[in-house]
Amino acid sequence: MNDPIIDRQARMWSRHAADYEDVFLDPYEPGVTNPLWGALEAIPDSGTKSVVDLGCGTGPLLPYLADRYQRVYALDFAASMLERARARLEGPALKRTTFLQRPMHQIDDLAGRLDVAVAVNSLVIPDVRRLDRTLAAVKSGLKPGGLFLGVVPSIDAISYHLMLLVDQALEQGLDEREAERVSSLRLERKHYDFALGRFRFKGLKQKFWQPFEVEYRLAKAKFKLIALEKVLYPWDETLPGGEGLERFPPSWDWFFMARA
Ligand SMILES: C[S@@+](CC[C@H](N)C(=O)[O-])C[C@H]1O[C@@H](n2cnc3c(N)ncnc32)[C@H](O)[C@@H]1O
Repeated sequence: MNDPIIDRQARMWSRHAADYEDVFLDPYEPGVTNPLWGALEAIPDSGTKSVVDLGCGTGPLLPYLADRYQRVYALDFAASMLERARARLEGPALKRTTFLQRPMHQIDDLAGRLDVAVAVNSLVIPDVRRLDRTLAAVKSGLKPGGLFLGVVPSIDAISYHLMLLVDQALEQGLDEREAERVSSLRLERKHYDFALGRFRFKGLKQKFWQPFEVEYRLAKAKFKLIALEKVLYPWDETLPGGEGLERFPPSWDWFFMARA
């Protein structure tokens, strides 16, 4: 079924395939504390299991999954992302992997066949009806007791980051108005809708999450939440003003693990 909102977002994401690493935070960087790795390592018997990487993007997780799982589905609605993802694999890992170009709520053909689903920074469609429909589809795709692991962008971390930047500017002697103005510019505050958890950037509209919304939407889709933890990003040059904030606790995204 045609969905103009989904089609437009797929085109927008496809355009970002080439410059992806320059624009987006990388939760796989060595300095990042990411609970996803420990959670994946703890899944027993992966060699007999099937896994889907939902919104696999350029495929940074695929080599890990394709080395371990019997059957791997790499799904993304953006053609150029899938092209880059395919190029990461070869030999038996490539043979074990099926590439699916489609929106992630369209997985009826996988219903009840998946042991594990992973979605790293890809539950980002800002329209909540589409998000709910996606979570319901993932629930149906998983076998009973199957695991859903993911990372979602955090909107509360953006508020935290802004607070630190404002304080830093005040310490440097700016008055309150100027401190807020300069910090807002650095963090591109005008692109965010903090109340609804949304971010607009170069035609992309992305959902950003509060931890309570992760709990709420997973429960609504009848998942049992097992873990909700921070993915910690060190303050460095990849975050605006990051190098001046090293003495503070790090920024974060939200990692979750849920059972179907
Ligand atoms: C921020 S990137 C993350 C990519 C990858 N998971 C990673 O960790 O690098 C988001 C990806 O999800 C895909 N995506 C977003 N919403 C989607 C949807 N509803 N269905 C399929 N793919 C989607 C985008 O095309 C993009 O490749």
